[in-house]
Amino acid sequence: MVERIIGAYEERPAVCQDYDPRTAEVARRVARSIQVELPGVIVEHIGSTAVPGCAGKGIVDLMLLYPDGQLAAARDFLDAIGFQRQTTRDPFPEDRPMRTGSVVYDGETFLLHVHVIAASSAEARELRRFRDRLRADSALVAAYISAKKATLASGVTDSVEYCLRKGEFIMSALGKDQKGSGEETKGGVVVEKTNLRDKFARFTDHWKPRIVGELNGQQVKLVKFQGPFVWHYHDNEDELFLVVKGRFRMEFRNRHIWLEEGEFLVVPRGVEHRPVAEEEAHVLLFEPSTTLNTGNVRNERTVDRLERV
Ligand code: NI
Repeated sequence: MVERIIGAYEERPAVCQDYDPRTAEVARRVARSIQVELPGVIVEHIGSTAVPGCAGKGIVDLMLLYPDGQLAAARDFLDAIGFQRQTTRDPFPEDRPMRTGSVVYDGETFLLHVHVIAASSAEARELRRFRDRLRADSALVAAYISAKKATLASGVTDSVEYCLRKGEFIMSALGKDQKGSGEETKGGVVVEKTNLRDKFARFTDHWKPRIVGELNGQQVKLVKFQGPFVWHYHDNEDELFLVVKGRFRMEFRNRHIWLEEGEFLVVPRGVEHRPVAEEEAHVLLFEPSTTLNTGNVRNERTVDRLERV
């Protein structure tokens, strides 16, 4: 029997409120509770609350990406944990459903939208692409916020109409300015390369991972190690550590492994570990986006909201 962890949704008029960093943790928690129960499914945070600094309706939008043939299973699971069907006019169709709900976090009720989308669909790529473009471009975020405020100022408070107007901005943002530093491939997807040395040059602090790439619900992160980290484990995530520069020691409770430049290891979920770098080491991490750097532990080293560089 699955626990009903999702509360009731309430229609609120469209407003534009400031970015709330707590939405990142809300998204992480809900994503984790879905991913743990549905193997093969990936849940990603999208929409305004997935973009630091972006004002919006404050609704935590998630996309649930299911493998081919798993639509019914995904829908049934969302219903079982308490998600609801839309009550607005023009709801999303049942072959591409959207479910609504809420969770209480930090004493506040956060509204949720879950878009149920085939992992292989073009729509999944588009949603991710728009989010990533916003995350990488503060000028675009500012333009997006003013477009939303202008829509509201023009008297549109109906949530369906508001979404349509917003969609126009998104389409135009994705349609133009596709040149940038990347190569546009056939499906309109921008492909860019990343230089690790350049990225590492953009920060100096230790134990604070930065996101440099994302794929299939996993993230590529860069972090500088110096000194000992905290002992921790991750209930649900395997973590890959690749040394780009320097060396460090991965300690386990009964042994340790030195990792040299160009070497990597995977720490399986559930295994307690502690990285220790006697001198500064540059490390690339590859792990699900739900991974919290300190795992089961919360302390001053915990970083809830990772920056992008
Ligand atoms: Ni870890």
